[in-house]
Amino acid sequence: MDPVYLDYAASTPIDPDVLDVMVDTYKNVIGNPSSIHSFGRQARKVIDDARHTIAKYIGARSREIVFTSGGTEGDNMAIIGAALANQKYGKHIITTKIEHHGVFRTCEYLENQGFDVDYLDVDRTGRISLDQLKEKLREDTILVTIMFGNNEVGTIQPIREIAHLLAGRRTLFHTDAVQAFGTVDMDVKDTPIDLLSMTGHKIGGPKGIGFLYIRDGVHIASFTHGGDQERKRRAGTQNVPAIAGLGKAVGLVADDLSDRIADCLKVRKTLLQTLDRSDVDYRINGNPEHFLPQILNLYFPGTHVETLLTKLDLEGVAVSSGSACTAGSVEPSHVLTAMFGEGAPETQSSIRISFGAGSTPENVAEAGTIIARSVRELTETGRAGERL
Ligand SMILES: Cc1ncc(COP(=O)(O)O)c(C=O)c1O
Repeated sequence: MDPVYLDYAASTPIDPDVLDVMVDTYKNVIGNPSSIHSFGRQARKVIDDARHTIAKYIGARSREIVFTSGGTEGDNMAIIGAALANQKYGKHIITTKIEHHGVFRTCEYLENQGFDVDYLDVDRTGRISLDQLKEKLREDTILVTIMFGNNEVGTIQPIREIAHLLAGRRTLFHTDAVQAFGTVDMDVKDTPIDLLSMTGHKIGGPKGIGFLYIRDGVHIASFTHGGDQERKRRAGTQNVPAIAGLGKAVGLVADDLSDRIADCLKVRKTLLQTLDRSDVDYRINGNPEHFLPQILNLYFPGTHVETLLTKLDLEGVAVSSGSACTAGSVEPSHVLTAMFGEGAPETQSSIRISFGAGSTPENVAEAGTIIARSVRELTETGRAGERL
């Protein structure tokens, strides 16, 4: 059997059409987009076109899109940039306990710089409470940063409600839309988000490229200093082929968002049906109503995540835990800990399965059968906690 890749939330293979665009750009667009001659103008046009495609898709204006090296940079740029530019109004920031490290550690960094950060709780499905957000909001709250869809359990936050709650206040609203971007419709005209970060490599685009949407009128401090690129918001020569690839990838999402969602839901159902038929004991971690279709986090009572992942890898199924693997040990996920409590069994025995362009009902059913068999073998033989 060919190995089955079910870790699209970690990264997706590049779409062949995106690759074609990039290769063509590498070969034929040689100028620096800041140069005024025809070669420069040609490169500039590639960037302008990509910016236009992206802006149109999210209901923004081209000048509101700043290219970055991906989600982490976009998160850092938004959060640190907003904090530094607005510290004269206050030093209070609100985020959640389940953010990606790109946000979480950036907030911790700001705490060390004298900012005051509140981390909102989530319920057992991974959703924040709007009431708690309202309680925590203060006169000096300059920024609220809450992710769109969670990368480990797929829970979608009430982004519209949060944006409308904050509209009209001085508080800026940033959302990390890295996981939600390719499977959730988003429109910054309808939903007054001030800052939105995304990355290319979760939607069939290249790695190392993304963008930050910055609403017109929102001022953030820039922390790269040099040329005037990206309207002085990010100095440095742009990665033209990667930007061309990102524009193509976003264009493809725009063309078939509903098919992508339907395809993910279909294989998700296949996987759950396969597990149900095999009679293996499992539970879904996440919100039954507000979830990203491509992410399925499952709790298998009695298993140990590291052992299970290793076994599945040996059997040719690539899935992941949401946790950071350091030196062979898996630290409990901060997301599952926030949802279920410190030391809860869900934090020891859950895996993340995520779907994408190469997931078919056939290979997902095959993977489901292997997952069920592996779980059964590990729990029956009492080897759940043993390292293979
Ligand atoms: C929610 C979320 N934010 C940010 C990132 C970081 O994006 P990048 O890998 O482009 O830096 C990821 C990547 O896994 C993510 O899932």
